[in-house]
Amino acid sequence: MRILVTGGAGYIGSHTCLQLLKAGHEIIVFDNLLNGKEEALLRVRDLAGCSFPFYADDLRDREAVERVFREHDIEAVIHFAGSKAVGESVRLPLDYYFNNVYGTLVLCDTMKRAGVQKMVFSSSATVYGMPSRCPIDETFPLTALNPYGRSKLMIEDILRDLSQSDPKWSIALLRYFNPIGAHRSGLIGEDPSGPPNNLLPCVTQVAVGKLPCLAVYGNDYPTPDGTAIRDYLHVEDLAAGHLKAVAKLSSLYGVEAYNLGTGRGWSVLEVVRAFEKATGRRVPYEIRDRRPGDAPIVFADPGKAERELGWTATRGLEEMCQDAWRWQSRNPNGYEVAVTAGAERL
Ligand code: WQD
Repeated sequence: MRILVTGGAGYIGSHTCLQLLKAGHEIIVFDNLLNGKEEALLRVRDLAGCSFPFYADDLRDREAVERVFREHDIEAVIHFAGSKAVGESVRLPLDYYFNNVYGTLVLCDTMKRAGVQKMVFSSSATVYGMPSRCPIDETFPLTALNPYGRSKLMIEDILRDLSQSDPKWSIALLRYFNPIGAHRSGLIGEDPSGPPNNLLPCVTQVAVGKLPCLAVYGNDYPTPDGTAIRDYLHVEDLAAGHLKAVAKLSSLYGVEAYNLGTGRGWSVLEVVRAFEKATGRRVPYEIRDRRPGDAPIVFADPGKAERELGWTATRGLEEMCQDAWRWQSRNPNGYEVAVTAGAERL
């Protein structure tokens, strides 16, 4: 299929683009590079051995969005583009609503006018708020605890209303749990803009010496070792889930949500220990106060994705840690490369 990938220069987007290309899809990438990096796309081209059009544009620019649909006969859209830092969303809610929600409105309106009505949307487990029990399935109540989560929930509601208005829309909402790791080549991976917020980039930056020590936010949770539990899944498994969802669109009418997780939770200290064992690197840590808004335990029931998409996570925590470390150790400064190197390859 010919697929427009918004946010394709980002962490999950770049891994998904590579798998789409290897599976024989044609892709067009549209990314404002607010989070994503163009170097990631250069490396995707190298790894895939083929090129693709890239528009360094913003979904809030209606002209730019209309141009892409004019210049390419797009059959489906995978919509990753959006800001995703919880803390930042509390400080800058308007930025999140403009970038995430308004950008999606422009995209959907342009899709409608172009007669493109197949979409895979990058949603998040954050739409479940702070669940009272686990595992979480797609029937759990939806709520949001911060502007980032609210933006994801608003977009899901917009897509559900769109589908209600016209049954020809075919939309898969993929609710990610905690993606970590990197492509096994070590050439693409997670490269947070600014100081990392998520656990694994913090662990790898301590291991590579960019951070002195890992802050463990709370060890007084009602869990076996007192630290919070999450459902970490390999970004390559997550990317594969998008290809399964794209394949499903031809037989999916309306809107369906799918939890993409392993169905197993690991605590912060279990992850630290697994990382040290898998990589031989030490990760010094200090226990700090709980981080406001953190839930004690969050993990998925991935049964619906298994049944309806034929998708399941296959990679274990050791492989996630090894692949995360290979990326970080080979790219201590992420995609920040000498401009000349990039220029030669353009
Ligand atoms: C995981 C656990 C922290 C950093 C967030 C977003 C969610 C999704 C994934 C986009 C928690 C602990 C973390 C550190 C720590 N993003 N931790 N020290 O909070 O589950 O989810 O990222 O969709 O929407 O909310 O992930 O990696 O930030 O934290 O102890 O330096 O690790 O307290 O228990 P989280 P996380």
